[in-house]
Formats: sequence, C-alpha cells, structure tokens
Amino acid sequence: MIRIVHTVAELRAHLAGWRDRGQRVALVPTMGNLHAGHFSLVGLARQNADRVVASIFVNPTQFGPDEDFARYPRTPEADAEGLARAGCDLLFLPTVETMYPLGAAAAARIRLPGLAEVLEGAARPGHFDGVASVVARLFNMADPDVAIFGRKDYQQLQVIRHLVRDLAFAIDIVPGPTVREPDGLALSSRNQYLTPEERATAVELIRNLRTMREQAAQGLPIDGIEQEATERLAAAGFVVDYAVVRRADLTRPESGNEAGLIGLVAARLGRTRLIDNLEFDDPGTGA
Ligand code: PAJ
Repeated sequence: MIRIVHTVAELRAHLAGWRDRGQRVALVPTMGNLHAGHFSLVGLARQNADRVVASIFVNPTQFGPDEDFARYPRTPEADAEGLARAGCDLLFLPTVETMYPLGAAAAARIRLPGLAEVLEGAARPGHFDGVASVVARLFNMADPDVAIFGRKDYQQLQVIRHLVRDLAFAIDIVPGPTVREPDGLALSSRNQYLTPEERATAVELIRNLRTMREQAAQGLPIDGIEQEATERLAAAGFVVDYAVVRRADLTRPESGNEAGLIGLVAARLGRTRLIDNLEFDDPGTGA
C-alpha cells in the first residue's frame, strides 16, 4: 500500500529523506476521484523524476457558490489503491485546515489578471485565483523539482505556467496528454454525473472540436467556425459557455491559417459542465 501523509511536517520529512539521497521529486496535484487520465500523469511523473508524490485536495476556493464542491465525488481509498498501482510513492491528503491555516476567508489569494479572466475565468469568476492559490501552497509545501498537469485543462496549464514564471518557482511544469474514452470523450470525474442519454450526447464535444480543426485548416473565418460550433452544440442539447479558436496563449487569431491554434469548448448538459480542447497541430489532446 502507498504511504499516506496528512500534515505538511510529515510531507516535508518524507521529501527531505528523498532529497538527501539526491532523488528528483515530481508532484501530481489532483482533487481525487482518480481515473486513467490522472494515473497517466503519475506515469509521466515517473519518467521525469525518481520519486512521485500525488496530492488529493478538493479545493474549496476554486469552486463558485453554485458549483459542485459539496457533491464533488470523494473516493480516497480507491484513489490510494490506484495511485499505488500507477507507481506513486506518497499520497498527500491534507485537510482544509492544513491547506488554509488562517481559514479560507483570511487566506492569502493569488490573482492573475488577464489570462485567468477569459474563457473559463469569465464563466467561473475567481476559479483560477483559487487554483493558483492552492497550487502555490502545494508548491511551497512540497517544493518539487517537477510538477505534472494535464492538457485536458488547457487554460489551467497556462495559468500554472504563468504562476511559476511570475513568482519564480524553480519547478519544471510538464504537461500530460488528454486521456479519452474509446469514443473520444475526455475522461473527467464529472462524466459520472451524466445520465446515459447525456453521456451519448457528450461525444459531440470532441466531434465539434475536430470539425473546428478541419474548418481552420480550410482557412474558414474564425467567427464562422465558432458560431457554427456553438449552434451545433446547442442543437445537440448543450448550453454552451464558449466554443472558440485561440492561439496557444489564448489570444484570438486573425485567421485559421496560423500555426499552433487550439479549439476550446465549455458546455453544460443538464447539471453537468464539461470542458475539452484540441490543439490543432498536436496529437496530445485527441485524435
Ligand atoms: P483534477 O480535476 O483532479 O485534475 C488533476 C489533474 O489531472 C489536472 O492536471 C488535470 O488537467 C488532469 N486531468 C484531468 N482529466 C484528464 C484527462 N482526461 N487526461 C489527462 N489529464 C487529465 O485540475 C485539478 O484537479 C485542480 O484544479 C488542481 C490542479 C488539483 C488544483 O486544485
């Protein structure tokens, strides 16, 4: 079984032992309810370090008041077993009091203007401030050599890269490819909220991203690509937050002919909000 620690002191004691032996440490931050996408990040961590520590913490400061914080699935036993099988050495499982010793209301907050305010940040105000705040805490607690984040949450990955650069964390950020179901739906802890009918519809997200990629390659106007995707998703039964084509830095491209473009979608099916993206030149986010 995997070793589980709950306090910062225990975490640091373990990591200090590894460092004394000259071992490189990778951190894989998660909110638990782990699936093959998370476990693939542990595998990537193994390739980039000698020791792997995963964290599981359902972070209250990144959920909006009407979001699913209370009902977010918590499955620590199954997660610990899966992490052990995936080759993880240590699981950090802190309480809210450990992560926010002054209480969430009095806690220091990191705000990233610009990048954190568009797309997901516009649809979920304060979300990335919460993500940046908790990830900075995890970085300070674990002080890893490398940290692994999934491309599935593309904007989050960019937010973390900004955070590391801006606050001078000496941590390499390694992105992991998106792991998908056989029909193309990106794995997500939130997929289990879907009814069978909604699950069948959910595949339209990646289908539309692939269509957006084809249309961009044909040089169609970005506005038209986005509008069509929004309409097709709405017709399939989604309430669409956004369906857009962006540059890698999430600015808006002039045309579909630019290299390095990415499609990003966020849409709700019933009570469940799903996001996905496709890097048009990169196989790392889906066929
Ligand atoms: P969570 O949603 O649990 O995701 C943990 C990590 O797994 C993130 O880096 C995410 O991008 C990655 N991931 C999720 N689904 C994936 C998939 N299908 N394929 C590959 N990687 C996938 O993201 C968070 O937690 C939180 O915001 C966190 C960074 C832990 C801060 O609280």
